[in-house]
Amino acid sequence: MYPYDSLRDYAEDLEKQGKLIRINKMDQDKYEMSALVYKLNDRLDYKAPAFLAEKTKINDKVYDSPVIGNLLNSFGTVAQCFGVEKINDNQGEMYDAAVARIMSFQDKEMKWQSIEPVIVEKSAAPCKEVILNGEDADLGKFPWIKNNPADGSQYISAGSVILEDVDLGKNVGTYRMQVKGPRKVGVYFTNQSHGYKFMMQALERGEESVKVSVAVGIDPISWMMSSTRLADLGEDEFSISGGFRGKAVELVKSETNDLNVPAHAEFIIEGDISMETAEEGPYGEMLGYVGKKVWTFEIDIKTITHREKPWVYNLWPGIGGAYLTLPWEVGQFTKLKQIMPNLVKLHTPPATASVVIACIDKKLPGEGIEAGMMILGYRFIGFSKKMAIILDKDIDPTDLNRVIQAVGTRWQPDPASLVVKQSFHIPLEPSSKEMFLSSKIVIDATRQMESEGGPETYPYDNRTVLEERAEEAFDIVNKRWDEYFGK
Ligand SMILES: Cc1cc2nc3c(=O)[nH]c(=O)nc-3n(C[C@H](O)[C@H](O)[C@H](O)COP(=O)(O)O)c2cc1C
Repeated sequence: MYPYDSLRDYAEDLEKQGKLIRINKMDQDKYEMSALVYKLNDRLDYKAPAFLAEKTKINDKVYDSPVIGNLLNSFGTVAQCFGVEKINDNQGEMYDAAVARIMSFQDKEMKWQSIEPVIVEKSAAPCKEVILNGEDADLGKFPWIKNNPADGSQYISAGSVILEDVDLGKNVGTYRMQVKGPRKVGVYFTNQSHGYKFMMQALERGEESVKVSVAVGIDPISWMMSSTRLADLGEDEFSISGGFRGKAVELVKSETNDLNVPAHAEFIIEGDISMETAEEGPYGEMLGYVGKKVWTFEIDIKTITHREKPWVYNLWPGIGGAYLTLPWEVGQFTKLKQIMPNLVKLHTPPATASVVIACIDKKLPGEGIEAGMMILGYRFIGFSKKMAIILDKDIDPTDLNRVIQAVGTRWQPDPASLVVKQSFHIPLEPSSKEMFLSSKIVIDATRQMESEGGPETYPYDNRTVLEERAEEAFDIVNKRWDEYFGK
């Protein structure tokens, strides 16, 4: 039940609800798990369950530590993590409920409610059940996953990298980590990340290395915070998690440094990030394409602590699961809403991070294109988007059938489009020739007014007529829903 204190509490609840399947043994040397994640999402989409493989074969060795994946697979599961009580399968309803719940944790000044973490004794911290130092601290003892034959090697794909800086404050961020040896991993801070700024700050002070602890397998809200740019530079993600949880996150001091880490994590990996960089990758990235090799910092691992029989949480970027970053989307909405009072909804579909869909309460001509320019021009969101689809407020942006129907019926490519030849973009974009540059488009699929070149009168769509003139029809169906299915 909300708030979950650990990954295991959350998984237990999913299993009770039939939303997690257990699999006795999987062969990742044959990429069985990766194929399963694709097939689960192909066949079941947002109804795809999480899975837990009890044993996994990797590099001809069978590991006893479970691997868990496909965890945040629908708006219902996100809503459940944030404490929404009535969960159902209607993605639009669950999206609205999760967004409303997340927004309720923000005050009038747009500050996220926060509760400081509490520090617990080592004896009360499951992440310290086993402590491996020196040669014993060997990543080869655990089933880290190589997702794809094109990946450079196995990856710690779902680690929360914890840093502290005397000038900047605290940071927790999700950055991919390539396993390069028993005690060496690469850690990829893109130049837009807070982690990168922390590294640059230490470099400027002339430091030779930075202390780091990485938590793998933590409670779902802290995990979402780690993967989401809600906290400003230096703000503590664990305090914001506490606010969302309505209960402090329990932390414990690391073994080899002063960083406080989630006490209920599956693993804590402690070490030093050296200032030297080395080649890293390639990796199957979040847009669903194999990225280029990059230069990244590396961590020299000193100590690994873990629970008994620890669970490896693995992520397959680019397959389903943009649900993980829903709090980010809410943060983007609340920031944009300040300068766009007519903004009603903002959504990035799970299928791709490059497209954003916005619904506006349009009152004046030109507001559709204006909205698209504002969204794409705002670095905080526009940096990863090359297409903004602007819709009227009657469309549910999570219902892609409705979205495409609206585009197909309300959009006139000329004049209701705006193409920007080139603008700043994240370097992952597979279709762009130059790193950091992409062309962009606004598709204004709001009903066009006459002055915008639209028809003299706009026909009503059938559904709206039904909703307005046969008000009770949908209520009747909602009430009788279970009865139709003989329940
Ligand atoms: C699964 C996953 C993997 C990610 N990998 C990286 C990565 O390798 N490098 C990076 O800079 N950001 C990555 N991100 C995005 C960051 O986690 C996100 O921007 C987060 O806000 C970073 O924390 P920060 O804002 O404190 O830098 C990833 C996000 C997810 C959900």
